[in-house]
Amino acid sequence: MTKNLSLGVLISGGGTNLQALINACSDPDYPASISLVISNRDDAKGLDRARKADIKCLVIPHTNFKNREAFDKKICNALLDADIDLVCLAGFMRILGSPFVDFWKNRLINIHPSLLPSFKGLNTHLEALKAGVRITGCTVHFVRNELDCGPIIAQAAVPVLPDDTEQSLAKRVLDQEHLLYPLAIELIARNRIKITNDVVQISGANRNYKNVLINPDFE
Ligand code: GRF
Repeated sequence: MTKNLSLGVLISGGGTNLQALINACSDPDYPASISLVISNRDDAKGLDRARKADIKCLVIPHTNFKNREAFDKKICNALLDADIDLVCLAGFMRILGSPFVDFWKNRLINIHPSLLPSFKGLNTHLEALKAGVRITGCTVHFVRNELDCGPIIAQAAVPVLPDDTEQSLAKRVLDQEHLLYPLAIELIARNRIKITNDVVQISGANRNYKNVLINPDFE
């Protein structure tokens, strides 16, 4: 029997990815559960989602700390107190310093709304539209010290449509994020992930791919 992985989820905003994780964890067969949600903002809508699901929440405003180290340390201690196995960033809008990232190495993951290594940082959908890519998507990866870098666990591809706006594209990518994040965590929880030379290998992944995405598509 696989050990139930204890998740700590860090948020700053709407928390739709947190909601996707809450929904996934409500399935008794899902091998992880959320033990703690931390927000750096007290008005994060995600806090309501967590409270509604009876998950312990902490608000740790970064503005209360004199520097990044003190803020990171507070978060780290809260995660340790809650006995967290895996820290999941889900729209957490603060950069975590290297002592924190190094301490949680290979136990800290993030979801990013682009196919990394393309379009790191903010405004990913606008950048994708400006670059004219035909396919974008989202990525779940282990966190390293460089922004939006680290071993890639899973990706989902989303076509960019001719009349897409930043908002319409963001919505379609977000729908895929909600599928991808629970899947990536399940792979970790079921011990199907190995990191070699900072590249993820996944055991038992299907070699016969069935969905090839070509864009543009014509009737
Ligand atoms: C998502 O697009 C995620 O990829 C990015 O921040 C956004 C968070 O959205 N890191 P939500 O708060 O989960 O709705």
